[in-house]
Amino acid sequence: MQHDALIDLLDRMTLEEKVGQLVQLTGDFYSDRADARTGPMAQLGVKDSELANVGTVLGVSGAEECARIQRSYMARNRLHIPTMFMADIIHGYRTIFPITLAIGASWNTRAAETAAEVSAREASAAGLSLTFSPMVDLVRDPRWGRVMESTGEDPYLNARMAEAFVHGYQGDDLLGDTSRVAACVKHFAGYGAPVAGREYNTVNMSERQLRDMYLPGYRAAIAAGAKTVMTAFNTVDGIPATGNRHLMRDILRGEWGFDGVLISDFNAVRELEAHGVAADDRQAADLAMHAGVDIEMMSICYMRELPGLIREGRVDASLVDEAVLRILTLKNDLGLFEHPFRGVDPEAPTVVRPDATSRAAARRVAAQSAVLLANHGSVLPLRSFTTVALLGPVARSHDVLGSWSAQGVPAEAVSLADGLQEAARRHDIDLEVARYGQKPEDYTKLDDATFQEAVALARRADVVVLALGEPSAMSGEASSRTDIRLPQAQVELFDAVRAVNPHVVVVLSNGRPLDLGQIDGAQAILESWFLGTESGAALADILCGDTNPSGRLSMSFPESVGQVPVYYNGDTTGRPYEVAPQEKYVSKYLDAGNYARYPFGFGLSYSHFVYGEPELTSTTFDAEHPLEIAVDVTNDSDADGVDVVQLYVRDPVAAVVRPVRELKGFHRVAIAAHETVTVRFTLCERDVRYVHPDLAERSDPGDFLVSVGPNSRDLNSPMTVRLTETAA
Ligand code: IFM
Repeated sequence: MQHDALIDLLDRMTLEEKVGQLVQLTGDFYSDRADARTGPMAQLGVKDSELANVGTVLGVSGAEECARIQRSYMARNRLHIPTMFMADIIHGYRTIFPITLAIGASWNTRAAETAAEVSAREASAAGLSLTFSPMVDLVRDPRWGRVMESTGEDPYLNARMAEAFVHGYQGDDLLGDTSRVAACVKHFAGYGAPVAGREYNTVNMSERQLRDMYLPGYRAAIAAGAKTVMTAFNTVDGIPATGNRHLMRDILRGEWGFDGVLISDFNAVRELEAHGVAADDRQAADLAMHAGVDIEMMSICYMRELPGLIREGRVDASLVDEAVLRILTLKNDLGLFEHPFRGVDPEAPTVVRPDATSRAAARRVAAQSAVLLANHGSVLPLRSFTTVALLGPVARSHDVLGSWSAQGVPAEAVSLADGLQEAARRHDIDLEVARYGQKPEDYTKLDDATFQEAVALARRADVVVLALGEPSAMSGEASSRTDIRLPQAQVELFDAVRAVNPHVVVVLSNGRPLDLGQIDGAQAILESWFLGTESGAALADILCGDTNPSGRLSMSFPESVGQVPVYYNGDTTGRPYEVAPQEKYVSKYLDAGNYARYPFGFGLSYSHFVYGEPELTSTTFDAEHPLEIAVDVTNDSDADGVDVVQLYVRDPVAAVVRPVRELKGFHRVAIAAHETVTVRFTLCERDVRYVHPDLAERSDPGDFLVSVGPNSRDLNSPMTVRLTETAA
């Protein structure tokens, strides 16, 4: 439909019809069972007759169901405007990919794009037109349960991943390619920084810090063309994001030129009242509309209050028109006016199932997302052992999909036991698997008989693979924890097993960085997060050496919860610990070090990589002439491998205190055994820009310290380079 036709459509809409477009309700409201509708309708106070105008539907999927709702909706809507189905397809629809934190750990933007592309293909075949992803909230506090949904603690990595997700979902031709869906970047803004990691808690930081660290991910997603943005539940400097005009009108729309749809989070408009910035629904609607929210998700302040607010002159009718036009434009960009069943054949709706191609993609991404944290004495790969015992609550568990995988089917997922049994056959390994580890309670309690069986198996095996972790319900939304250690029953099992067998390989499954102090004595630790449908197959490939691990942490693992938040890119202090850690009056703890147990960017390989001294094409650069940095990386081992070579920069003197180091580039490179690869980085003037006290982003001429290495801690001695001139 041409733009003029959309305007014409808008002109023909009544105010009631327009306001209806600004509302989003869940699928319950459209159930074909009247009794299923009554509860939610009574609770929210929506009349059946009003449903004909409600613009979009939340959380329904399945080709048949979407087709049914669309058919009856369009028949009831006076102007036959199609509805649109949106849902949270975060790391896969039916084929589940690793959780986003794990995809971040792949440091592979292509992996993110693949996960998004397959998710879009399955989701669109199931009737969806938009996914509430990517979530790009920068995260530093592992107590917060939603760290599992972010790509981690670094603005640069977040931004690259955000672009990749958006491109994977939307492709290059959203209109023509019905296997794509629109992306929704969330949660704008700063939702990843709740005080003390407590879900929905206050976010409090300076605007300078917000712009410097937290906004780049959202901005990158928008620059990549994300069609929609979701607001956040939290406050930003005392003003709830959903009513924050400065965030949305000034920054998002004004500075960044975002002209897509802005949707609130679930009930977040009405929550302006609980926050204490609106006295009632009327004021909440007024605030949210003026702040720029187009769609109100699951509360009906707009529906009830906007007509009156317009009549009284408190809200200009043009604001509503603009919001409606944005929603109609989104529907049009997806081709819904011509193809309301987009992606679905309403006469023969299909049921989406993981196929061989999507499973192969999920296995590849999973293999790249696991992180080898320790491997003392090269206990892994397991090939050199004849008998292996697989124990622990996660061993047989199908709880490997992770939070936000509503359409994933655990029974379709490969458990570690399934995967390892298959690999053991290939490698002629004698594998014994303990009987327990299938029920959620196995994670926190072990009865005596089970415990004894595990210890007996451990005693007679050459090596033990001990699968430990958190069940998926311990991370995700509304799943903050103060204790980020493994459950005590698992620690007891670890101790008992280790007492009878020194060769203990721990495979961890968890949705957040943990304090792993209690299993420090493990000979190897493989972090598997929640790797999704192909979890067990990918892990077995790594454990048996068919795949060389290549994941690197995208979020630091603390030494202890008392250090949290601990992240690699903290600001320098006036009394820096790193200069004199033994001194009393430096920034430190009396009872712990300052550093993470496993820092950002860290991960081991079965190969051994040796870094040469980086070489610079010049020691100066400017806005026209970037700097080239080259480093030779040698694989000094017999195993072909993949390394993630990382470039960090420090700005030693600036107008504001700068982080001790910041990631400015990375390359994931395959290096064959005994080969050397030259890895090249380009450092541009725009890479060293930062947000100044006046909130402008620019660079300052002067010196910068540049280092290269395999993680944020093990870097070569920094080289000094000089920015001679900034951009005009
Ligand atoms: O997209 C989500 C959001 O991340 C949290 N609240 C509910 C939304 C819709 O399901």
